[in-house]
Amino acid sequence: MAVVSSSKIAIIGAGISGLAAAKQLAKYKPVVFEATDSIGGVWQHASFRSTKLQTPRCDYEFSDFPWPDRDNSSFPSHTEIIEYLHAYATHFDVLKFVRFNSKVVELRFVGDREGGGCGGDYGQLLAGHPAWEVAVQTGHDPEAVQRYMFEFVVICIGKYGDIPKMPTFPVNKGPEVFKGKVMHTLDYCKLSEEETSELFEGKRVAIVGYKKSAIDLAVECAEANQGEDGKPCTMVIRTLHWTVPHYSVWGLPFYLFYSTRSSQFIHERPDQGLFRAFTCLLLSPMKRAISKMIESYLTWKLPLEKYGLKPDHPFHEDYASCQMAILPENFFSEADQGRIKFKKASKWWFYENGIEFDDNTKLEADVVICATGYDGKKKLEAILPQPFRNFLDYSVSNLQAAELRCIWLARLVEGRFKLPSVEKMLGLIAMEVEVMKRTTRFYKRQCISTYSINHNDMLCEEMGWTSWRKKNLLLEAIIPYTSQDYVDK
Ligand SMILES: Cc1cc2nc3c(=O)[nH]c(=O)nc-3n(C[C@H](O)[C@H](O)[C@H](O)COP(=O)(O)OP(=O)(O)OC[C@H]3O[C@@H](n4cnc5c(N)ncnc54)[C@H](O)[C@@H]3O)c2cc1C
Ligand SMILES: NC(=O)c1ccc[n+]([C@@H]2O[C@H](COP(=O)([O-])OP(=O)(O)OC[C@H]3O[C@@H](n4cnc5c(N)ncnc54)[C@H](OP(=O)(O)O)[C@@H]3O)[C@@H](O)[C@H]2O)c1
Repeated sequence: MAVVSSSKIAIIGAGISGLAAAKQLAKYKPVVFEATDSIGGVWQHASFRSTKLQTPRCDYEFSDFPWPDRDNSSFPSHTEIIEYLHAYATHFDVLKFVRFNSKVVELRFVGDREGGGCGGDYGQLLAGHPAWEVAVQTGHDPEAVQRYMFEFVVICIGKYGDIPKMPTFPVNKGPEVFKGKVMHTLDYCKLSEEETSELFEGKRVAIVGYKKSAIDLAVECAEANQGEDGKPCTMVIRTLHWTVPHYSVWGLPFYLFYSTRSSQFIHERPDQGLFRAFTCLLLSPMKRAISKMIESYLTWKLPLEKYGLKPDHPFHEDYASCQMAILPENFFSEADQGRIKFKKASKWWFYENGIEFDDNTKLEADVVICATGYDGKKKLEAILPQPFRNFLDYSVSNLQAAELRCIWLARLVEGRFKLPSVEKMLGLIAMEVEVMKRTTRFYKRQCISTYSINHNDMLCEEMGWTSWRKKNLLLEAIIPYTSQDYVDK
């Protein structure tokens, strides 16, 4: 039997998005269901000891809660981020809404499909009667499931963490034939410092992947394998991507290339008309020139050619799909010492003593760690009913976008504006996919990076806010947007 909750709104997840949603919807006293025993999401459960924010703190802060030391240009560690999130949750008194160890295992739509929460010609989103049944498992007992009824549900379960994306293999080529240890980075995150040293010291380690988790892990592995008995750690690379040592290029701040209104002008965006599409086409040589300039800097600055790590695709394709990783300081110095090695292979599988590749070579290993990312789609599929599962492509989000979306959502719930028709929204999503396909071969990894200001403009306009929020045109052109620009004025 489902219980009608005294609260109208449920929020699922207490990472940055869930906390921002709870703060914006606080007047409805939402119930926040959090599967784990803590807030912070990936910063708590999918971080290594060395994990830091990839940007300075002023690019990852809530609009109404600046970091205490926001001008400190060092990248905060994941523990500092957790502290910051705790301070935010405490300051705005939202922890009281969170029910920890409460995992949502099923959502059922029980509302009126015509007038319900699907957009279109609906009345109020909070219609005065329940529309969603939320099944919640408390603790570890799968039998201990309680069902609650809510009028509105906000899903903030994140795209990363929780469910590892593990490679699959034909029979007799998977981990079952390997004598050593196989794990995913998510398992690695749970280890203590002592356990990680034990895992690495004197072991031949293979790390599958060449993105941020893999790169950070390779450095942790190399650092644990110093000295005479130290063994190299080998990165197994399927696709090369551009990596970046810091946020300046030939002495110019990186934000000038992709994060200002003028720099984003040359990139396609979903809601563009024919004229803009034509302008973008005309300006595409400029887009390529900027990308080439960054590529030439990176090739000069980093030993990419020496190690065969120079990607064939343009830098801007990695940027447009949020695949750019910031290198830890000593990555290439560890490689120079022979403690990090690289093996490029499009296909690989296990054998008794390690990994075999499609070029008929083998790599002996004691430990194989899959830094192969996460399956965010599976996380959503696990709880969403049809037809909602059909709309499952969703973009990576940073704190600024997550917060602005929550501000937008709170106003939508208040009935201050209405959603466009379902057809119009689906049309916009289709356009977004088309733009991504034209922009980057990695379009499946949807990301708003090259049109983030336009994305925020659209949210502002729907809320009735001014979208150009800087003091003058010069600032609009050359200064990037931060959360502070979206303080409700
Ligand atoms: C290691 C790592 C580092 C990152 N670094 C950066 C960075 O430097 N800059 C940047 O902009 N972005 C970074 N990201 C992206 C990051 O995912 C976002 O910035 C942001 O933290 C996502 O927050 P979220 O609240 O949307 O999701 P999450 O942090 O994933 O939080 C989701 C929450 O929902 C809970 N949950 C999930 N399923 C359920 C369920 N069924 N029932 C109840 N609760 C549930 C989870 O336990 C979790 O607490 C990083 C991601 C990772 C994995
Ligand atoms: N702030 C930080 O310091 C930090 C730290 C870690 C992670 N993150 C963020 O967390 C998110 C997830 O990052 P992630 O690095 O864990 O995952 P990811 O970005 O999804 O990268 C997965 C890697 O594994 C490779 N891979 C996947 N399946 C493979 C297979 N079967 N065989 C060989 N290679 C395979 C991928 O190669 P292909 O490219 O060929 O697919 C890619 O190199 C990203 O947004 C990242 O920026 C941030």
